[in-house]
Amino acid sequence: MSQQDYIKDIARFGLENDQEKLLTTLNEFIEHNKISKKVNFALQLQSLLKDSLRKQKNSSLQKVGSPSHYQNVQDRETDDLILEKLTSDYGLDNLVCTTSAKDKLVNFLEEHREIELLAKYQLPISNKLLLYGPSGCGKTLASYVIAGELQKMMIVVNLGAIVSSKLGETSKNLAKIFRRAAQEDCIIFIDEFDSLGKVRDYSQDHGEMKRVVNTILQLFDYLPQSSMVICASNQKEMLDDALLRRFDLAISLELPDQQQIQELIKLVLKEGQFTFDRKISMKQLFDSAQGLSYYGIQKTLINAIKRSLFAQKHLRSTKLRINTQAWNELLKQEKEALDLK
Ligand SMILES: Nc1ncnc2c1ncn2[C@@H]1O[C@H](COP(=O)(O)OP(=O)(O)O)[C@@H](O)[C@H]1O
Ligand SMILES: [Mg+2]
Repeated sequence: MSQQDYIKDIARFGLENDQEKLLTTLNEFIEHNKISKKVNFALQLQSLLKDSLRKQKNSSLQKVGSPSHYQNVQDRETDDLILEKLTSDYGLDNLVCTTSAKDKLVNFLEEHREIELLAKYQLPISNKLLLYGPSGCGKTLASYVIAGELQKMMIVVNLGAIVSSKLGETSKNLAKIFRRAAQEDCIIFIDEFDSLGKVRDYSQDHGEMKRVVNTILQLFDYLPQSSMVICASNQKEMLDDALLRRFDLAISLELPDQQQIQELIKLVLKEGQFTFDRKISMKQLFDSAQGLSYYGIQKTLINAIKRSLFAQKHLRSTKLRINTQAWNELLKQEKEALDLK
């Protein structure tokens, strides 16, 4: 059947309220998309289907305190804590980093592609990853790369929100999220992981915070081999030693050096429509950009491209020339704004 035939059937069975046929067709359609390499679309549909089935199961009139009522309340609570649920098309080529970081990432991915082989030899799988380094250097991006490379759904958890809203509930909430991720075979991405450490500073309730850290330690220890948790932090030093030790792998994503800046530029200009209006000396460029994050450098370059585009839109040339001087200025301004010299 073609894509269009499936959609027609789904529409018909949906409108006719034929739940049984609708489900069969939807499942076939999901498989069809997996085979035709639209894996992300298939994952999104699958998640939609699971969510909706779970809600349906619990939507009939319920007795307060009954298991289905409890499940419903729990679903609503976890929904609040999940920032977003996503799939990704990013690949390793999208991330610029040191060879050491890239090697670690490649090996980590390989382990998850070879889960069965490792299981056969009863070797443990590394599934707890810490990404650390200054802001704008690719922690979130690296998590998207992992989700994209492994074609898995990812749950993004807002740890800041969990910890700050109801400290007393944090342990319970975290456990719920881990359970849900295991059920749905998702990656859990916990951003701002250091907020766990921060709270300890101004909270009088040391006991509560200890409990939260203990919960995390336990959740990590009992994490099923097929699940994966990625944590990101730009203040690794705020993290407890006991917590740090639990990670199977830590990858540091630092500010770019000269070569990485060059790679980033190539990545931004990869469509090939843009060239610089004069040959830039890498040394000079590095001086202007040093200290800025990948994000900062990319942002100023894109701004320079836009300005050059506006200035040259009347010229009917196919190749746009980027005003190198203008970019240099933008880099300097960006550094000033961040108080870098
Ligand atoms: N190492 C990198 N390689 C390529 N692009 C990057 C890199 N780091 C950051 N960027 C760009 O900056 C954006 C923001 O980076 P992000 O991953 O959110 O940083 P972080 O999570 O470390 O604060 C990314 O979406 C990407 O466009
Ligand atoms: Mg981030």
